[in-house]
Amino acid sequence: MKKITIAIDGFSSCGKSTMAKDLAKKLGYVYVDSGAMYRAVTLYAMEHGCFDGLQLNVEKLRNMMQDIHISFQFNPETGKPDTYLNNKHVESQIRNMEVSERVSIVAALDFVRAEMVAQQQAFGKEKGVVMDGRDIGTTVFPDAELKIFLTASPEIRAQRRYDELKAKGQEASFDEILANVKERDYIDQHREVSPLVQAEDAILLDNSNLTIEEQNEWLMEEYLKRVED
Ligand code: DC
Repeated sequence: MKKITIAIDGFSSCGKSTMAKDLAKKLGYVYVDSGAMYRAVTLYAMEHGCFDGLQLNVEKLRNMMQDIHISFQFNPETGKPDTYLNNKHVESQIRNMEVSERVSIVAALDFVRAEMVAQQQAFGKEKGVVMDGRDIGTTVFPDAELKIFLTASPEIRAQRRYDELKAKGQEASFDEILANVKERDYIDQHREVSPLVQAEDAILLDNSNLTIEEQNEWLMEEYLKRVED
């Protein structure tokens, strides 16, 4: 069966990665979480003194970009690739609140995006890839055969992230998470470089009231339509 490129974009904490990961597993495709790459750059910036509170020293980060190497290694326990920053496992660190609060600032920088987009395109050059993010269907793979734009209400998304952090035993406040979700939506949609917009040929899916199984079934049908014709 022919291999295609699948782009899943949408708002934060919509379940894009769950959806993308499950589909990649079923199809034997490579899964790439592009948000993890922006998170890893943010963690590097934090660890190397580029941030003073929420204030970023952009020039300092620009000069460090060539020292940042991001890679993924499949974790059979979670069924997902874990993120490595300069060969160090950073999968849980990149999901903490300190990184979440700063990642939109880093992801809005043109030189960071140019570097990440180039790496993402290299990951997908053989096709057979499911990638999730904000600009996959618009910028990274504008020719992707299947594009999904995922959304859900901010409250439902905040609840999902809250449950996720609690399940991992991490401290979490629902109100803080909700504020962070709304703030990131705003920044993601209003930044100058590659703002979050639905690609014209993407299918919109609001999964507020769908179970993961229902969502996966729907996605498989959409995939089959693309490979059968
Ligand atoms: O999906 P996520 O919450 O892990 O993404 C982290 C941040 O990275 C989010 O604020 C948006 C940004 N991002 C982006 O700008 N472009 C992408 N392709 C993926 C994520």
